[in-house]
Amino acid sequence: MKALFWASAACVALAGCSAPQTGVESAPIAEAPMSSEDARIADLVSRMSVERKVAQLIQPQINSFTAEDMRRYRFGSYLNGGNGGPYGDEYAEASEWLKLADEMYLASVEPMEGGEPVIATMWGTDAVHGHTNVVRATIFPHNIALGATRDADLVRRIGEATAVEIEVTGIDWNFSPTVAVAQDDRWGRTYESYSEDPAIVAPLGAALVEGLQGSKGDPNRLGAGHVIATAKHFFGDGGTDQGVDQGDVNGDIEALKTIHAAPYPAAIGAGVETVMASFNSINGVKMHGNKSLLTDVLRGELGFDGLVVGDWNAHGQVEGCTNTDCPQSLLAGLDIYMVPDDWKGLLETTVAQVKDGTIPMARLDEAVGRILRVKLRAGLLDEIAQPSDRPNAGRYELLGSAEHRAIAREAVAKSQVLLKNNGVLPLKDGANILVAGSATDDIAQASGGWTLTWQGGGDLDNSYFPGATSIWKGLEAAAKESGGSATLSADGSYSAKPDVAVVVFGEEPYAEFAGDRKHLGFTNEEGLTLLRKFKTEGVPTVAVFLSGRPMWVNREMNAADAFVASWLPGSEGAGVADVLTGAMPATGKLGFSWPATYDFGPLNGPEGALFPVGYGRALTDTSATPQLDENCAPLLAGPTRALFEAGRLADGTFAFAVKPNVEGEGEYLAQMRGDLTDAGVTVRGFDRDAQEDAREISMRGGSRFGLAQERDSGGAYRIAYEVVTRPTAPVTLRVGDDALVDLTDHFALALGKGWREMLITEACAPGLGNRIRFETEGDITFRISSITREDVAEGTACSF
Ligand code: BGC
Ligand code: BGC
Repeated sequence: MKALFWASAACVALAGCSAPQTGVESAPIAEAPMSSEDARIADLVSRMSVERKVAQLIQPQINSFTAEDMRRYRFGSYLNGGNGGPYGDEYAEASEWLKLADEMYLASVEPMEGGEPVIATMWGTDAVHGHTNVVRATIFPHNIALGATRDADLVRRIGEATAVEIEVTGIDWNFSPTVAVAQDDRWGRTYESYSEDPAIVAPLGAALVEGLQGSKGDPNRLGAGHVIATAKHFFGDGGTDQGVDQGDVNGDIEALKTIHAAPYPAAIGAGVETVMASFNSINGVKMHGNKSLLTDVLRGELGFDGLVVGDWNAHGQVEGCTNTDCPQSLLAGLDIYMVPDDWKGLLETTVAQVKDGTIPMARLDEAVGRILRVKLRAGLLDEIAQPSDRPNAGRYELLGSAEHRAIAREAVAKSQVLLKNNGVLPLKDGANILVAGSATDDIAQASGGWTLTWQGGGDLDNSYFPGATSIWKGLEAAAKESGGSATLSADGSYSAKPDVAVVVFGEEPYAEFAGDRKHLGFTNEEGLTLLRKFKTEGVPTVAVFLSGRPMWVNREMNAADAFVASWLPGSEGAGVADVLTGAMPATGKLGFSWPATYDFGPLNGPEGALFPVGYGRALTDTSATPQLDENCAPLLAGPTRALFEAGRLADGTFAFAVKPNVEGEGEYLAQMRGDLTDAGVTVRGFDRDAQEDAREISMRGGSRFGLAQERDSGGAYRIAYEVVTRPTAPVTLRVGDDALVDLTDHFALALGKGWREMLITEACAPGLGNRIRFETEGDITFRISSITREDVAEGTACSF
């Protein structure tokens, strides 16, 4: 039964799939006669030392190791994180990326003593909407937009263009496509998902794999013009309870598979060489320690024969594991640990565990064999050519080439979903158009997360995007071409009354858990205010809404004459004008249900939807949109000023730990929970009044733990806390960057007194600021149940 389901799902999803899946129920590898591929791999593995084998499993990030480390340890692969760039510069020119690739490659293939085989390393990156870690690359729309196109051929061409741009910089491997089937749009990664419907996700994911790697049978597959692809995150990433990133997925496993595993047969059928394991747990068991799913299902039922790479320190979240000690993941079926910073500790522990038998040699050899097989297929074991000597490398004119930008522009046009049109669209030739809203000329906002930086947005003004076209620039050019004019007016003011106003507004960029939301109400009123202003002035309006998910925008929809869901279009904003002017037809269709109310739980499927999956008007459809319910009083109560409350981190708040004696970014604790042994910080759920509504924080001497708000909500900090162990050395609260509040005596006094509150005002922490950080010189344990901010009268003293 099971096998049948998977086999047929693969065929349904893949056009032209003719060969039936074989051996789905048994493990074919053991009995099959050895191919020459396998023989070659077995020979290599047999000549490698345990240290070198384990190093194949270790994937550090570029800012945590040097070429010297590569020479010494010979990591099988490495990555750049969303905030990483060569030599510490995330905005480095492409030539620097290529230079680093050469250095690392050459270090990895230096001859070794004793004739041990040298195995070339490989570099993985998140080119999830184009090669967007690199300045000048084409920025394609995010997956949620591509889902609205339903156009697999387009997605295949995007994969091809992305692969070429990756090759320019000498990188081998892309951690894409995300084939998550997002079920709750409050999830911060909804925009990385093509659709809430697996039948839409599967063919598009497979198409991206084919574009990136080349199709099966293509003699150039994984060769010139192609890179290794990754289907991620296996599995259930899009199914967590309340859309909490890295959370738990509950339910009957077979039912969950029909949604969340459904895109994998298609990706595997398309030949995807790697799969990334997911951060989430399924019915309480973290995927990185889940043998029945990582091995029995992925290898057995689905017949996947490539390698499984872990996610960012996700092995450290498995019960009983830390970032530097986790045989459980390898035993469960993980082949590569993504261990950005703690690679040395993990390498050493894992070598010791192979030597003492905790990890059977056969399992190690199997993992190494899988890694080598992918390298062999990618030509990395033959072509002893440094990255800069490979096809397309160093051809910087291909980054953001006109040809690639044309594909992106086509994708933008095809992904615009027209939700309302009273007849104001298409814009008339010769019209005088006012283009309003601060997002209009903001390429970073139109690109969303995973753009130059992990979170995107922030300080990235248009100068970071040479060659890109903002939505404003696209409209301006189109207006001129039609004999009309366009005026940019962020605040909507004008001297001569325009024929029509286009208002561009929407969500600010975010990535991963920073994008988790408690509800889908869109509360920023900039766009609404402009739309209402134009309405009273008798200027017809077109609303262009930028977002990583469908949101409750009834007020804006009522106020506008036309409404376009524009998603996160990226660097080719002219594609928006193509549809607004009618140069291209409006063909985009929703891949997600659009919410009718703001206060629902997960919305999925047609019930309760304002617009169901598949909705999207043609420009000619000017049928009336009824007046929508605008009641949203609870939303307008204003954003909560909590950083942490009721067991949850607030939207846009991060918890982090910084290692002793190290400055810099530190590590994040998703959901303010985790065991960061290296950083000396452990944060566990604790029950104060309700299950896990508080946290217990244990800090080693020298460690630092804190919370930061993406945007400073202002005000004094109120912290509900309980001290568990007496401080043995100074404990300090750092507020903002510079203010230091000595907590040592207060903590000593608070010991044994139960829950207390401290209020931190300007009086003891001048400047306040968007972050607080506990710093301790000795070991200490305390608990926190809430951290909120509030306005206090001037001069209010601090209290503890
Ligand atoms: C994300 C992955 C990504 C990895 C490397 C993780 O936090 O979940 O999707 O590939 O980081 O940047
Ligand atoms: C990295 C991302 C990664 C994230 C995970 C960031 O610092 O840049 O690539 O996905 O951490 O927490």
